[in-house]
Amino acid sequence: MIHKQEIEGLFAKQLARIQDPTLREKVVEVWLEGCRRGGWQSVDQLRQMPFTLLTNARGVNFIEHTIAVTEGALALAQAQKQAYRSVPYPIDEDRLVAGGLLHDVGKLLEIEPDGAGGFRKSRSGKCARHPISGAVLVGTMGLSDEMINVVACHAKEGEGRPQVLETIFIHQADFATFDPLVMLEKGQLIQ
Ligand SMILES: [Fe+2]
Repeated sequence: MIHKQEIEGLFAKQLARIQDPTLREKVVEVWLEGCRRGGWQSVDQLRQMPFTLLTNARGVNFIEHTIAVTEGALALAQAQKQAYRSVPYPIDEDRLVAGGLLHDVGKLLEIEPDGAGGFRKSRSGKCARHPISGAVLVGTMGLSDEMINVVACHAKEGEGRPQVLETIFIHQADFATFDPLVMLEKGQLIQ
């Protein structure tokens, strides 16, 4: 069983950026519930899990990916805040960090250990990809409609539909970690 303190430890730096204590607590609760529903037993298992099964993740694990996307989305927001004299739209940094930490939480349901040291798509994952299962999880745990948009629309399900600003930043940060691996695998990345 994975404990609250372990999730807090994994994402300590990012969680500390969330100003609203209720939202910070909710993010941890959603992760714990995802771990419980997905049957994850230890944080080590999560560290072994590749962040995607769609291409060779080349050792990048689920936790590293979640942190990279969260920090990447935050950096995109900060770059605009610093470069512009006036930012034309409000950026909700709490939503950005919470959304980054939760965008792939559905992968706790979509992916499972294959019993032979690897990982495979679960039955839940075959029924609904992680943006859908993650959005259901986030919604049932009482998070806002905007957070549901972040989770539901960050990936291909959401193409053309990330109407919430934070979803756009998270989508871009997410694909900045995914596309290079796909291109590398296909021999399309010029090095
Ligand atoms: Fe992701």
